[in-house]
This record gives sequence, structure tokens and C-alpha cells, in this order.
Amino acid sequence: MEEVKAEIGRLAASATTAQKFMSELVALLHKRMLKYNWVGFYMLEYGTHPPVLVLGPFQGAMTPHTRIPLNQGVCGAAASTGKTIVVDDVSKDPRYLACSLETKSEIVVPVFVHGKVVGELDIDSHFPAAFTATDQQFVEYCATLVSQMLESSPV
Ligand code: SME
Repeated sequence: MEEVKAEIGRLAASATTAQKFMSELVALLHKRMLKYNWVGFYMLEYGTHPPVLVLGPFQGAMTPHTRIPLNQGVCGAAASTGKTIVVDDVSKDPRYLACSLETKSEIVVPVFVHGKVVGELDIDSHFPAAFTATDQQFVEYCATLVSQMLESSPV
């Protein structure tokens, strides 16, 4: 994980826009983290009232959930509370919206710009309880890099 972290640091340093960094980040996480089987961003769309989460850059199978209202899904819960959510067994969480039948666990980490949620990084795993405290710290680190980049160069 430390090696992947260093690679992400290099990506962040060389990325020209936040959008490019987000695309490269999901590709790297999907390729290098073996239990991260679907990796993607959902970003808040402000044109709609109330705002809706819209699928951004992602890697993995296409999901039927390209637009998620804030009152739906684990994704909606993370965005509306501004808190990381780790689900060890998605079959036991009534909020869970299925993306793939193979998904067993999920982590969703909000992305902030100047303290406000603007989107989130969502990762699904085919393995139960794949996201340990170390994974949580790591994914939160990734989300923080995106936040910093969005603050200095909006998408
Ligand atoms: N599982 C998410 C929906 C997104 S797909 O996993 C890609 C949720 O419950 O909000």
C-alpha cells in the first residue's frame, strides 16, 4: 500500500487537472489494489434540486446507478452526512444499492471543497469486510488529494 501511495503522490504532482487526476487515480486503485473491484467517483450535480450524485470517472463493470439521490444508497448517506461509511457485508445494509451481484463490501469517502461535500470516492469489493482501518485511512488520503486539487483547480 505504501508503494501505491507513493505512485498516487507522483500522479497528483504531475496531474494538470483534477478531472485527469481522478481518472488516473481510479485506474491505478483498480489495477493495483486487488480487492478494490469497482472504483469510482460520484459528484454532486447542483443544477437539480435537491442535488443528485452523478457517476464520474470509474473503473470496473458498468453500474445501473449513474444518478443517485442523496436520500438513497450508501452513497447518498455518505454524501449527506459528510462521513466515511464502511459496509462489511452489503447484504445486511438496507441502504445498499446493488451495482454487481459479486459485491460483498463497500467503502464510500466524501470529497470536500472548502468544507462542503462536492462528491465522493466509492469502492466495492468482491470480498467481505475488505476495508480495514488501514484501507479507510488510505482511501481518505486519496479523497483528500482530490479535495486539494479541486480547491486549487476546479474541474
Ligand atoms: N452501492 C452504492 C451504489 C453505487 S454502486 O456500488 C457503483 C450505494 O449503495 O449507494
